[in-house]
Amino acid sequence: MLNYNDVVLDHFRNPRNMGKMEDADAVGEQGSAVCGDMMWIYLKVKDDKIIDVSFETFGCGAAIASSSMVTELVKGKTLDEALKITSDDIVNALGGLPEPKVHCSVLGVDALHNAIENYRKNRR
Ligand code: FES
Repeated sequence: MLNYNDVVLDHFRNPRNMGKMEDADAVGEQGSAVCGDMMWIYLKVKDDKIIDVSFETFGCGAAIASSSMVTELVKGKTLDEALKITSDDIVNALGGLPEPKVHCSVLGVDALHNAIENYRKNRR
């Protein structure tokens, strides 16, 4: 059995910013090649800053906790600052993930990058 720390369990049981954002300025989508799970990140952007963010996932508990943490870390950041966040940052902010679950933290970050890409593409 895998051991999850209290921070991970808290973000899994009480995910922050979960749900579809109907009036999002951009949506990012990412699927995991490892497990086939899916993730969506919704962004509300003003003056190049992420003023609101939410997520949905057909993913495991570690994916839910990771995405919850992604949304917490990027809220209020500029798009460039948000792009610098890595899956290692997410794992560290969660206080660690069991090794077989580290790939789950990549999903949220990739979906975030995809959302920022889509936002910039649509504004060109
Ligand atoms: Fe698929 Fe975690 S096992 S995201």
